[in-house]
Amino acid sequence: MKVVIIGAQWGDEGKGKIVDYLAENAKYVVRYSGGPNAGHTIVVDGKQFALHQVPSGILYSDKKVYLGAGMVIDPEKLFKELDMLKENGINWEGRVFISDRAQLILPKYRQMDKDRDSQRKRPIGTTGSGIGIAYSEKSHRDGLRLADLDWEEKMAEFDGEDKEYLDKYKDKLIEMRVDLTKVMWEVRKENILFEGAQGAMLDIDSGTYPYVSSGASCAAGAATGCGIGPHDLDKILGVFKAYQTRVGNGPMPTEFNNESEGELCQYVRDTGREYGVTTGRARRCGYLDLVALRYACRTNSLDGLVLTHLDIYDAMEQIEACVAYDIDGKIVTDFPANVDQMNRAKPILEKFKGWKKPLKEIKSYKKLPKEARDYIEFIEEYTGVPVTIVSVGYERDETFIRSNPWKK
Ligand code: IMO
Ligand code: MG
Repeated sequence: MKVVIIGAQWGDEGKGKIVDYLAENAKYVVRYSGGPNAGHTIVVDGKQFALHQVPSGILYSDKKVYLGAGMVIDPEKLFKELDMLKENGINWEGRVFISDRAQLILPKYRQMDKDRDSQRKRPIGTTGSGIGIAYSEKSHRDGLRLADLDWEEKMAEFDGEDKEYLDKYKDKLIEMRVDLTKVMWEVRKENILFEGAQGAMLDIDSGTYPYVSSGASCAAGAATGCGIGPHDLDKILGVFKAYQTRVGNGPMPTEFNNESEGELCQYVRDTGREYGVTTGRARRCGYLDLVALRYACRTNSLDGLVLTHLDIYDAMEQIEACVAYDIDGKIVTDFPANVDQMNRAKPILEKFKGWKKPLKEIKSYKKLPKEARDYIEFIEEYTGVPVTIVSVGYERDETFIRSNPWKK
């Protein structure tokens, strides 16, 4: 059985926690897109881990994890992350593998990424980790893949700092290198969890282009990014927060207004720890945007939604969510491609009663306050997709499942 977890918003939805949670029943965990731009936080017994490139299944000592062909890999940061794991008692050796078709990020790409973004008329606000450069080298067909590391003619094209850098990591990378398409075929009968990075709205094709990342963070990316066919993805779950955040620039019609909703924004940001794991930037916060969420459901064939951070709204008297946009006086419920239109979109909000109780201790859907269930059921009705898992805290046991994703 193959289960895909994607972010259904603009990233930072809590994918790391959910992948870690579901990994218990998987044998293999595969990250399929992005690179060190991702920041996946997992909390186990009060201890927090921030993962950027290593798949979130690594914390279970019996899981093997794979970095897919859809990824762009920064070896220096990857080995730092692996060292961090080792220092925290996580023995990863013999359990971390990288697709021979994955692309590599050279250190100079980071500065090139920053320079390019600062020279843009309308900067994207990238993470500065060289992601866009690595993916464009790939598209130009000038990229460097793990498979090339022992191709002498190709490697002879690198000199100076690049050569020194590659010489440093080459052998270690070759040791972890596998033909992932072959592995995926051999283990096809096992439970495999595919971990998405970024989110549906940051996908290069269906996201809010050009304010997107450069990889295929959509569900289909799990197939292309690991070398399997789309038929083989048995179940696709989209993780979303009870509210919404975005890092960097680009349209977000439901963003809290700095003046009139400044207090609410600060409350959500601080309670939800909405500061970037990768860059430390304060995230932009806003109301849940159901127009965008339904679009994400449709463009990714979501079988189920996973709601996280519901507890952040515990103290609220009233909750609001966006059900349509007003664009130049026209009511719009289909997500527009045009960024200029999106910049003018004003959210039309639906109000819900708050539950005013802590949800942390709740262990089943039935025990949720009626107001919380009403909010969830409205989301299900609007999107046409069931909310199958709900998270009410950072720890593994602060999660409850309404329908087991590992059952067909
Ligand atoms: P996870 O996996 C949130 C955003 C950046 C920027 C845009 C492009 O933790 O959810 P890039 O460096 O990728 O070229 O930046 O995409 N971005 C993310 N935002 N979570 C992420 O990953 C992100 N990865 C990229 O902030 O706006
Ligand atoms: Mg992040």
